[in-house]
Amino acid sequence: MTASTSELPQRPTRRLALKGDLLDFTAAPAWGDIDSPAVRFQPGHWLLIEAGRIVGTQLAAPDETWERQDHSGRLILPGFIDAHVHSPQLDVSGSYGAELLDWLNRYTFPAEIRYGDPAVAKFGAERFLDALLAHGTTAAVVFPTVHKISAEALFEAAADRGMRLVTGKVLMDRHAPDGLRDDVKQAERDCIDLIDRFHGQSPNSRLAYAVTVRFAPTSTPAQLAMAGALCRADASLFMQTHVAENRAEVAWVAELFPTARSYLDVYAREGLLHPRAVLAHGIWLDDEDKRVLAASGAQVAFCPSSNLFLGSGLFDWPAAQRAGFRVSTASDVGGGTSLSMQRNLLDGYKVQAMAGHRMTAWAGLHAATRGAAEALGLAHEIGSFDAGTLADVCVWDWASGPVAQARQQVARELHERVFAWMTLSDERDLMSCFVGGDIRFQPNKEQKIHRS
Ligand code: GUN
Ligand code: ZN
Repeated sequence: MTASTSELPQRPTRRLALKGDLLDFTAAPAWGDIDSPAVRFQPGHWLLIEAGRIVGTQLAAPDETWERQDHSGRLILPGFIDAHVHSPQLDVSGSYGAELLDWLNRYTFPAEIRYGDPAVAKFGAERFLDALLAHGTTAAVVFPTVHKISAEALFEAAADRGMRLVTGKVLMDRHAPDGLRDDVKQAERDCIDLIDRFHGQSPNSRLAYAVTVRFAPTSTPAQLAMAGALCRADASLFMQTHVAENRAEVAWVAELFPTARSYLDVYAREGLLHPRAVLAHGIWLDDEDKRVLAASGAQVAFCPSSNLFLGSGLFDWPAAQRAGFRVSTASDVGGGTSLSMQRNLLDGYKVQAMAGHRMTAWAGLHAATRGAAEALGLAHEIGSFDAGTLADVCVWDWASGPVAQARQQVARELHERVFAWMTLSDERDLMSCFVGGDIRFQPNKEQKIHRS
């Protein structure tokens, strides 16, 4: 199927009920609070889904008008939201021995050039979205490549799968190799065409366009101005970019934009900071940047696996809380080494621990579900089990293999149990992944091998 929007098929009579240990959030848990009232844990409950939407939860079994799936003894969570990830970089993940700028030139740009070929773009988009689903991620904010076809292919593949996707063609008109640069006029035409065809085309659309500035060094001031003009013309557009990830990058931006107060200011003065802006990393921000971010309503996507792997630095999450800007969590594959949100949250815990902070399972899981949904303005659609949201839902084993099982058996209270799950599990524990109430991933029997 090729569709220009992602819409739920009309099937008003399908009623599906999933039984398991339901876990979601009603609000943001306070930092460090392991007994948070924002945690909604409903063990052994039924999640009721009608025509692809969640309609409620209950302890009693629903009647036979419902198709019942009993996952008793398993954990059921809202699908994860990856707030920053690169679809063409699956093949780059795990590349040795480089910090950001060197890593881009040596590994990433050569991999992205290949996406100028429509066949590569189509296959790559499908493989990438299927990989997200196989990791329990049902919604994502995605960087494709500079090529228009790479964004088209992603939109079309997401529509085929009914997934919530925010993406846009990457803007980059300098400091990149041949085959990976655009120019301001052509880029503007491509953005407008993609917006017309894919951005929230109907009330049920699950696709949205993000004005996608790779990062300040790869856009001329004229291109940044064009990006800002697109955002100003339509406040429903998202914006995504990178900011203050790596010290050499920050120094380079200071050279390229000598009149800007800071790296963040390069974006701020073009009107690129707004409530639908997602800025990856934000490690090397000063107090004024943090104040500007909070006032703008923009969010930072914390990418711990990437930040550790590329040696970029340690993001200070409690400082973000104090400053009052939103934080979501993200894999940043291929700087990050895993699409698994549990693996990324584990790295997030370690990054915070290095600075003496303790990230609860609640802080991590909230940021990867309801928190990201709220930061993106999509909480009416994704991120929780609130009635009326779409049934993007994952069923997980609490533990597989003797080590994790033994750990679960000695866990006493709920936070200990969920924290052990978050740190010891990964995509191999995913049992079912639903998007809009339709099953989109189940492991093969052979795939579900026992782990030690
Ligand atoms: N900064 C500019 N491009 C990239 C990218 O592809 N990955 C990461 N981690 N940082 C970037
Ligand atoms: Zn990135």
